[in-house]
Amino acid sequence: MKDSDCPVCHGSGWVFWRDDEGREYGKRCECGAVERQIMENKLEFANIPAAFKTLELKTFRLDVYRQDESRKLIKDACAAIKYYLDNLEDMRKNGMGLYLYSGTKGSGKTRMAASIANELIKTKRFQVKFAGSMQIVNEIKATWDDRDRSESKLLTALASVQVLVIDDFGTELPKDWIGERFYSIINGRYQDKMITIFTSNMSLADQRYDDRITNRIKERTFQLHFPEESVRDLIAEQNRRALIEGMKGR
Ligand SMILES: Nc1ncnc2c1ncn2[C@@H]1O[C@H](COP(=O)(O)OP(=O)(O)OP(=O)(O)O)[C@@H](O)[C@H]1O
Ligand SMILES: [Mg+2]
Ligand SMILES: [Zn+2]
Repeated sequence: MKDSDCPVCHGSGWVFWRDDEGREYGKRCECGAVERQIMENKLEFANIPAAFKTLELKTFRLDVYRQDESRKLIKDACAAIKYYLDNLEDMRKNGMGLYLYSGTKGSGKTRMAASIANELIKTKRFQVKFAGSMQIVNEIKATWDDRDRSESKLLTALASVQVLVIDDFGTELPKDWIGERFYSIINGRYQDKMITIFTSNMSLADQRYDDRITNRIKERTFQLHFPEESVRDLIAEQNRRALIEGMKGR
């Protein structure tokens, strides 16, 4: 039986009635539609990409940055993140999140955001959703031609998850309809004081969304400038050397 076939709630999961004075009450329908919706939401959620699941803050390296300016920036960013995590209870109460940005690709923004997400899940038992900005856009589109999934439910879920990580915010085209959806998510989180962590290749000032969105992010995040240096090449080079050393040792 599909939820919508329930003769009592017709799939809404809720039944309502009025008392003698006309006050309306509601309770969960016995068919269990609400419980099923909650489970489905939980399963679809969380999903930190496999490659990031094991990343931890303590394996985030500072020695992979070569330029002095980069080392200064990453030291400042790490100090701010340590302060943030040490004072997490206050941050949670005030709905303060983080905005990690650098124009340069491969500087460690996503890695840091994933490590923070893992820390929040494992040691604080927070409910976290990690999603690429484009992935959010695609998930929204996917609800349009799927009668079993509703866009408004998805937006509500994104607006209300305890911690939302939006990776690569701003890579999607700033079309009106996309701006509307991000506004709805970000404004919902703003009103309920929920933590949002962004990574981006743009400073907040360079984002092409209108300031209804950027002002809310500005108010509720610490903006941390990551190094303008890619560590991908260095790490690839180190892996290559380690491989050669390993082969020599055999
Ligand atoms: N400080 C670090 N210590 C160890 N590994 C790192 C560090 N920074 C980045 N890496 C590794 O380098 C690669 C690139 O990092 P990451 O994907 O986090 O960059 P990014 O800034 O998010 O790049 P983009 O702008 O392209 O999204 C990843 O494999 C990541 O694990
Ligand atoms: Mg990234
Ligand atoms: Zn029912």
